Amino acid sequence: MAACSFRRSIASQLSKVLDLPPENLIKSISAVPVSKKRHVADFQLSIASVTEDSSSDCLAQDLHLQAQKLAERLKCDAVVREISAGPGTVNFTINRELLAKTVLQQVLKDGSQYGVKSELFSTVPRQKAVIEFSSPNIAKKFHVGHLRSTIVGNFIANLKVALGHEVIRINYLGDWGMQFGLLGVGFQHFGNKEKLKSSPLQHLFERLGVHFDEYSGESFYHEKSQEILKTLEDKGLLQKTIKGTGIVDLSEKKDLSSFSTVMRSDGTSLYITRDLAAAIDRMNKHSCDTMIYVTDKSQSNHFQHLFQILKLMGYDWAERCQHVSFGLVQGMKTRRGEVIFLEDVLNEVRSRMLQNMASAKTTKEVEDPMETAEKVGLAALIIQDFRGLLSSDYQFSWDRALQSRGDTGVFLQYTHARLHSLEQMHGNEQLTDVNVACLQEPDAISVLQHLLRYDEVLYRSSQDLQPKHIVSYLLTLSHLAAVAHKTLPVKGSAPELAQARLCLFQAARLVLASGMKLLGITPVTQM
Ligand code: ARG
Repeated sequence: MAACSFRRSIASQLSKVLDLPPENLIKSISAVPVSKKRHVADFQLSIASVTEDSSSDCLAQDLHLQAQKLAERLKCDAVVREISAGPGTVNFTINRELLAKTVLQQVLKDGSQYGVKSELFSTVPRQKAVIEFSSPNIAKKFHVGHLRSTIVGNFIANLKVALGHEVIRINYLGDWGMQFGLLGVGFQHFGNKEKLKSSPLQHLFERLGVHFDEYSGESFYHEKSQEILKTLEDKGLLQKTIKGTGIVDLSEKKDLSSFSTVMRSDGTSLYITRDLAAAIDRMNKHSCDTMIYVTDKSQSNHFQHLFQILKLMGYDWAERCQHVSFGLVQGMKTRRGEVIFLEDVLNEVRSRMLQNMASAKTTKEVEDPMETAEKVGLAALIIQDFRGLLSSDYQFSWDRALQSRGDTGVFLQYTHARLHSLEQMHGNEQLTDVNVACLQEPDAISVLQHLLRYDEVLYRSSQDLQPKHIVSYLLTLSHLAAVAHKTLPVKGSAPELAQARLCLFQAARLVLASGMKLLGITPVTQM
C-alpha cells in the first residue's frame, strides 16, 4: 500500500526524535483530505495523539508551539521534501515524483486489493462473523425496511470479506404464523425456493450480487423455543405473571423495572423466544466471533433484550453480538403515489432511468439499456441511502437520487463509464513502464493525494460499519477525476504524458470500481 510506505518512512524518523516505537506512530499519521483550498502537504501528524498530556486543557497555542518545535527537529530526506507546522499538526510533503510513482504503481499492482492490504489492518484479528440481514416476512410484502436491511447487510458482508474475515450470510425469514412454517415443511424441498427464485426479491439479490449462505426462518425454532423456555425455568430466570405469561426480569435491582415477555399465557413462544433459540443455534453451528443483526431501529429494544437474556443464560458471547440499526425512509412513493414495495421500486427505478437516459444528450448507444438503467438506478438508490448516518431517518426523493450531476450514484456510474471509455479509446493496453513522474499539475496531484487516503477511509468504515465514509470518498474521487479529465487531456498530448495521464485515470477508475462494488453497486461501462 502506497500510503503505508510513506507513513512508515515518516514514522521511522519521528520514532527517533520522539523515542516512541514506530508502530505506535503509524496510526497517528494520516493523509490530508483534499479540499477546495488546496493543501500542499500529503500527510499530517496530529500532535495531540503523540503528546503525553492529551488532556483537553492542553491549549491550542501549546499544541501549535509543540508542533513547531517538533517540526524543527525533523529533517527532509529522500521521501519527505518539506516539513511544516500547522495548528496542532506537523505536515509532511512527499517528494512529488515519488508520490506519483508509488501511488500509481501500487494501485495498478494491487487492483481490487488496493487499500485492503494496508498495514492499518494488520493488527485487526481475522474473525468469523455471522451476518443476518434482509429477513422479510414471507406472507407479507417486502417493504422499504427490508430493502434497506438487504443493502446494508450486503455492504457489511462485502467489506468484511474484502478485509479477509470469514462471513456467513443468513436470511432469517419471518414465516411464523403461516399455515405450516415454510421451513417446518421443508422449505428447501418443496419448491418454495423456486417461488422465491422467480420473485422480484431474488431478482434484486442477483443484481445487487447478494447471496445467502443460509436461509433460516422463525418456524424452524418452534420446538427449540420450548427448550429455551425450559432452560430459562431451570435457571430460575422465568417468572409467571398473574395473566399467565412468562417474563424474564432484566432490571439490575431485580425489581421488574425492565423485563421481557418470552411466553404467551397459552405457553407458546414469542418473536424473542425464537430469536433466543436461533442465536444459540447459530453460535453452536458456526462458533463465530461475532453475530450481527441488521434491521431498522424500531427493533433496537428487542435486540437489547435478546442480548441481555443470552447474557443472563450464561452465554458470554452475547457481548459480541451487535445490532446494526438504520432509520426510516420517508416518502418512498411511486408516481402513482402509493407506498412502494420491492417490485415497485425496481420498476420505478428502471423506468425513470430509461427515461433520463433517453433524454440525456450525453447518452451513447447502450447495448442493453434495460440492464444499464437498472444498474444505474440501483446505484442511485444505494448512494441516497448510504450518504448519511445509517441510524438517521431520511426523506427519499427520486429526483434527488437520480440527478446526473451532484452527489448521486448516477454521477458515480457516469464517471466510471467515462473513465472506462477513455481507456478503451486509447487502446486499453496494459500500462507498464510508464514514466509517471511528469504528473505534476495540481489537478493530478489532488487525485494522487486522494488515492492515498483510501485505506484510512476503509478503516473508518470497518470500525463503525457506516458506509458514508466510503460514499463521500468515492464522490470526491469522482469530482476530482472529472476535473482532471477536463484539464489533463490525453488526446493530443505528447505520448509520454498521454500514457502517464492514462495511468492516473486508470488508477482512479480501479479504486472507484472497487469502492462501488463494496457498496453493492455494479459499475457500468457505458451509459
Ligand atoms: N422478519 C422481521 C421483520 O420483518 C425481521 C427479522 C429480524 N431478525 C431477527 N433475528 N429478529 O420485522
